[in-house]
Amino acid sequence: MDCFWFSRHKSGGKPSEVDGELSVSDKVKIYKYKEIRQATDDFNPVNKIGEGGFGSVYKGHLKDGKVAAIKVLSAESRQGVKEFLTEINVISEIQHENLVKLYGCCVEGNHRILVYNYLENNSLDKTLLAGGYTRSGVQFDWSTRANICIGIAKGLAFLHEEARPQIVHRDIKASNILLDRHLSPKISDFGLARLMPPNMTHVSTRVAGTLGYLAPEYAVRGQLTRKADIYSFGVLLMEIVSGRSNRNLRLPTEYQYLLERAWELYERNELVDLVDTGLNGVFDAEEACRYLKIGLLCTQDSPKLRPSMSKVVKLLTGVRGLDNKKITRPGLISDFMDLKVREPVETKAGEVNRHNYVNPSSYNVTSSSGTRDNSSGASSANAGCSFSSTI
Ligand SMILES: Nc1ncnc2c1ncn2[C@@H]1O[C@H](COP(=O)(O)OP(=O)(O)OP(=O)(O)O)[C@@H](O)[C@H]1O
Ligand SMILES: [Mg+2]
Repeated sequence: MDCFWFSRHKSGGKPSEVDGELSVSDKVKIYKYKEIRQATDDFNPVNKIGEGGFGSVYKGHLKDGKVAAIKVLSAESRQGVKEFLTEINVISEIQHENLVKLYGCCVEGNHRILVYNYLENNSLDKTLLAGGYTRSGVQFDWSTRANICIGIAKGLAFLHEEARPQIVHRDIKASNILLDRHLSPKISDFGLARLMPPNMTHVSTRVAGTLGYLAPEYAVRGQLTRKADIYSFGVLLMEIVSGRSNRNLRLPTEYQYLLERAWELYERNELVDLVDTGLNGVFDAEEACRYLKIGLLCTQDSPKLRPSMSKVVKLLTGVRGLDNKKITRPGLISDFMDLKVREPVETKAGEVNRHNYVNPSSYNVTSSSGTRDNSSGASSANAGCSFSSTI
């Protein structure tokens, strides 16, 4: 057998060390480097399907017949085996139909590799936002888009409100939404910041692609709370309905920033003009405008005014109505375009440490039943992103 198992433990907490052997959750498979090499044909470039801030991603065929997306973490990620497995254990316990499933990992020598379920229909940025309904053959009709929005909202609500520990994703964006063969959405990369050493801020390496999704209070002051994810979700929601990315420099200046455009149209009561023309008019205009308004609710400048993700699910599915709810101006990217490097800030109540655990003190969040101390590391905050604005 080419894969082996560390000894098992029943809870999803820290791997324990018994006779020098590490134990891992029974949800995690530990792959040998040799098997990963075989699965990817020795990391053949032909099998490379993407490259992100954490490293390269390969498609691979595992011995047990599974097709996997194999993420080779970059050299900067030199966490010790025990720390790495501790985080892997936590991530592997977090399962939901709208989250990408982690099959396991490889931790031999300096190698840190994650093995995920492979999703057949790629990421939203490479399909829908790349005009994919013509190129990839995938049809993003209105009901498909509505299902995608609701699925993402449910996955994020689960991470924020039900998972143990509750997790702030920190990098909600189109490239982190993958689609399975039925076009059901799966959020990827949740918990990944936990696998990075404290001095490595993932966001700083990918500012250009990520900036348009960043809530102003996170980008400017480093305040990372669930509300920052909700802002990013709002941007994504508007991208899905409009079929364009949040920033498109090829458009005339006044149309380049999706949020600015959306707010302008909202104020003129002409939001319907933002809906993707690629739908050829085949959509429920009332519903599409409702989705855009929910996007605007989520991106309001004041984090307090943004709804929780469980409320967003209810609003999207129509369980709750918008009832002419007042929407205030979004926090706009252009308002902080000229700002430069921010230092990480001290974690305050309700914000999260670098591991993205929610600090429960201001949210009345009950700590998970002994599996994790949600407030651990609160004093070594590194949640602030350090970058210079490059747009
Ligand atoms: N589980 C998966 N199934 C199918 N394709 C995947 C999977 N995970 C990643 N990919 C592909 O690999 C690409 C790169 O993913 P990766 O997460 O490394 O980078 P990213 O999402 O573009 O940026 P970031 O590192 O900021 O998340 C994705 O856009 C997607 O096309
Ligand atoms: Mg990603």
